Order: sequence, then C-alpha cells, then structure tokens
Amino acid sequence: MKRLQEKSALITGAARGIGKVFAAAYVNEGATVAIADINFDAAEKAAAEIGDSAYAIRLDVTSQGSIDDCMTAVIERTGKLDILINNAALFDAAPIAEITRDSYSRLYDVNVAGTLFTMQAAARQMIRQGHGGKIINMASQAGRRGESLVAVYCSTKAAVISLTQSAGLNLIQHGINVNAIAPGVVEGEHWDHVDAMFAKWENKIPGQKKAEVAAGVPAGRFATPEDLTGMAIFLASSESDYILSQTYNVDGGQWMS
Ligand SMILES: NC(=O)c1ccc[n+]([C@@H]2O[C@H](COP(=O)([O-])OP(=O)(O)OC[C@H]3O[C@@H](n4cnc5c(N)ncnc54)[C@H](O)[C@@H]3O)[C@@H](O)[C@H]2O)c1
Repeated sequence: MKRLQEKSALITGAARGIGKVFAAAYVNEGATVAIADINFDAAEKAAAEIGDSAYAIRLDVTSQGSIDDCMTAVIERTGKLDILINNAALFDAAPIAEITRDSYSRLYDVNVAGTLFTMQAAARQMIRQGHGGKIINMASQAGRRGESLVAVYCSTKAAVISLTQSAGLNLIQHGINVNAIAPGVVEGEHWDHVDAMFAKWENKIPGQKKAEVAAGVPAGRFATPEDLTGMAIFLASSESDYILSQTYNVDGGQWMS
C-alpha cells in the first residue's frame, strides 16, 4: 500500500532542488502534487519530468493574492488539500555591518511571512474540509544557532521553528499536524549560491567553503535531497498522527536536539 495514496499535496518552491525531489517522492507514494513556484517555467518543466500526477502552479508566497489563487487552483484540480510543504526560501549572507534593509525584507517576506500565510491558507482549507491534514515547514540547522555571516537567514529559520511550534499547538484541535524538517547542508543549486556568497565575504576560491563544510559533517558528506524524502513522507503520512510542533534534524549528525 502506498503511504500517500489519493492525497492532494502542495509544495512551494518545488521547481528545483529539495522541493522537486519531494514532489517526485510524493507522486511515487500515490499523491497528486502541485509544484508551486515563482519560476513558473521551471515548475512546468519539473511537473512534466515527474509525470501526470504532478502539475505546475504559479505562486509568489510574498503575495496574498497569489497564495489565494494557488489554493483555488489546487481545489479546482484535486477537490481538496491534504498536505502542504512550505519549502520556498531565499538565502543571503553578509557581515552585520553590511546587511541591507532590502535583503532583510526579501528574506523575511519569503521565509517567514510566506511560510505563515501559506500555512494559514492551507489550514483554512483543511479546517473547512473537516478531516485534518499535514503541514511540513522547511527549517534548517541555521535556525538552531546563529552564524557569523548569516544573521538574517538564520533568524528566519529560527522563526520557522517557532511558528511550527505555535501552529502545531493551535491546529491539532482540527486534526492538522504541523511539523518541520531541519536539513544540514544539501547538494543543489542553493548551495552553489551559498558557496559564492562565502567566497565573496571570506575571500575563498569557488568550491572551497563547500569542501570545508562537507569535511565538518559527522556523516562525512553533504546530504542529497533524497536523504530527506523519508522524513518528508513520514510527516505527511498517518504514521505521524501523534506528532506535532516538532522540528526534525536530518543533517548527518550536525546538530543534536
Ligand atoms: N539546500 C540546503 O543546503 C538547505 C539546508 C537547510 C535548509 N534548506 C531549506 O530547504 C528548502 C529548499 O531548499 P533548496 O536548496 O531546494 O532551495 P532552492 O533555492 O534550490 O529552491 C527554492 C525554490 O523556491 C522558489 N522561490 C523563491 N522565492 C519564491 C517565492 N516568493 N514564491 C514561490 N517560490 C519561490 C525558487 O524559485 C526555487 O525554485 C528551503 O526552505 C531552504 O531554506 C536548504
């Protein structure tokens, strides 16, 4: 028996990276998955690669109108919403003295407000449906402690962990489980960007920071997105019905809590 048979899932920021691999894993477990991304062309391409049970939606999580349209599109397509993964996020790095208000606002709009108000829209729909649901927020090891050059991103991910705790407590009365996943370092285009930011601020050659970070992971390597799919399926399935408000580290042993 597939674990997400006939479930309707929405994954934000799923046009590439971790979200795209989650979408394929959910389809493999029997779900129909909306690949919702601000990069609609890439979302369409990802959906076409994954197959008939995946479909693309244009979504900007910083716009309430776009979130509402996205929910309408999911209901038109599948008649319901059972699972949301709040996965879309932006990264930036700078010393405290160089942080700009523009960077701060962009990261908080996507990573915090985007997570909260997409979660709210999904919860409203799930409450109307009356048979619960699963919400998974993508946090990070960056939310567990500060980092010298990553103050804003780290604080947005700490906010995601906190929002997950409160939303989980508030929504369990409706049978909605809210939990989060905190990855460590994951292969993909995101980390190419991170490596480039560190090359700039720490005067390193491209690839140097990534190699140094990989050497410090107890498991000895970066994660692949596939390393995270087991947790994403578990938290979306009935096996996690008694779990709420938790953030699970899937990070090769980098953080213990
Ligand atoms: N890659 C890592 O090492 C790592 C580590 C810890 C946590 N995470 C978290 O996991 C999640 C996925 O990471 P990733 O590496 O796949 O990221 P990524 O940068 O590869 O993908 C992010 C996606 O979000 C989309 N997006 C950006 N702004 C958007 C908006 N306003 N509305 C809708 N979509 C938008 C992008 O177009 C992109 O497709 C993120 O929440 C990230 O913070 C990643």
